[in-house]
Amino acid sequence: MNEGLQTICYIVASVLFILALGGLSNQETARRGNLYGMIGMGLALAATILGPEVHGAGYAWLIIAMVIGSAIGLFLAKRVQMTEMPELVAILHSFVGMAAVLVGYAGYFGIAGDSGHTMEGAAKTIYEIEIYIGVLIGAVTFTGSVVAFGKLKGIITSKPLTLTGRHWMNLGLGVACIILGGVFVGGEHSSGAVTALIVMTLIAFIFGVHMVMAIGGADMPVVVSMLNSYSGWAAAATGFMLNNDLLIVTGALVGSSGAILSYIMCRAMNRKFISVIAGGFGSEGGVAAPAADGEQQEYAPETSADETAEMLLNAKEVVIVPGYGMAVAQAQHTINDITRKLRAKDINVRFAIHPVAGRMPGHMNVLLAEAKVPYDVVLEMDEINDDLPQVDVVLVIGANDIVNPSALDDPNSPIAGMPVLEVWNSGTVVVMKRGRGVGYAGVDNPLFFRDNTRMLYGDAKASVDAILADIS
Ligand code: TAP
Repeated sequence: MNEGLQTICYIVASVLFILALGGLSNQETARRGNLYGMIGMGLALAATILGPEVHGAGYAWLIIAMVIGSAIGLFLAKRVQMTEMPELVAILHSFVGMAAVLVGYAGYFGIAGDSGHTMEGAAKTIYEIEIYIGVLIGAVTFTGSVVAFGKLKGIITSKPLTLTGRHWMNLGLGVACIILGGVFVGGEHSSGAVTALIVMTLIAFIFGVHMVMAIGGADMPVVVSMLNSYSGWAAAATGFMLNNDLLIVTGALVGSSGAILSYIMCRAMNRKFISVIAGGFGSEGGVAAPAADGEQQEYAPETSADETAEMLLNAKEVVIVPGYGMAVAQAQHTINDITRKLRAKDINVRFAIHPVAGRMPGHMNVLLAEAKVPYDVVLEMDEINDDLPQVDVVLVIGANDIVNPSALDDPNSPIAGMPVLEVWNSGTVVVMKRGRGVGYAGVDNPLFFRDNTRMLYGDAKASVDAILADIS
């Protein structure tokens, strides 16, 4: 394939990627969006493999790499549970980061692309800056994503690591990277320049670990989308190093969409991006909330599946709030059956989705779509909060932080200021959870002590199965 045809394929692939992103913005068009993305990626791969850069033994290496990569990808895609998707995404981001570091080193030492030896003047300086920035972003993305993977998987504590003087430490690391950049660029491959590159890489690795370790559990949604954005910029930097326009465009698309998502997440949680990155949020442990007079408060009374079914059958307006526990229990299909049964009895059942419910953006929407819940009854937090006072029964299924009133009432709460679903304004709230466990942010939830709350303990799947049996 000549360069002209390859460029045409790259332009078509870029357009398909943009259409894919456009499609993914809406549940009804998401399937089509995915298809565009897959065709675009297939075309991009074919145009790269058959392009003028690959020849001779290059084909053999590519085939070996693709067979190994595809086998691992297939194995993981088949094995991974929906609840483990955020961890998988985090570890995949780390691969993009590591790829940028390796391409940067390979480019600099002349193993891949142009080492810059043949360049002169401004072109050479620009090339070295590309390598330096590419390796820097890649290294931060790599270790940051590995730590995010550990936090999401629960191997590393979700409590923020707040070292004394951590902001000064970050500032020091940043200044060191700038000084080392000065040594590296124009260093003419001297031992000083090579040392600067290696030391900067180590600093960036440390910075990535420190940055994500300092971020508390409740801010993890922003971290996941932020690392998504970084991985895009790392890919774009790789594109500059390899002179690959498609990689630059694709990286920029991922980078900018990840940045927009981070902004949306921050707005949903009423947080400033800079304060999320500075860390320290969500550090409180979870203990039962003491009453105003210092006494330990009583939990709201327990209810049963029979009683809950009766409440639902006597209601006119029902709202279901799904959370992470619904994903763990895989209760969405039974919930869809309950919804259909109640709607057939003229009871208005709607779903209320908090922007950070679950463990990844759109987590609940994906599960409800998989269970074939009609899209028009699935509403965003802003669309339904004002209707909650008119609702007879709210079913909270495995949700905790997203229905925590202390976010609004208690300025000292670690999640103070985060908009939440104000379910306590409804007639009765039935909370389904296994026991007295805290949510991801690890903070108490006064909802469980309110007069109009009823606790339905047990695995969410078992509870909704029992409710379904009672309303059939
Ligand atoms: P959480 O606050 O994490 O609460 C989930 C609750 O589900 C827990 O209190 C748990 O209580 C219960 N649960 C767990 N397994 C269950 C099961 N099998 N059956 C019934 N209940 C079960 O979830 P949420 O309300 O969805 O809030 C999301 C949290 O995750 C927020 O803090 C958010 O910031 C964070 N987060 C979100 C994202 C994204 S992008 N969405 C990413 C990372 C972190 P028991 O242990 O008592 O059962």
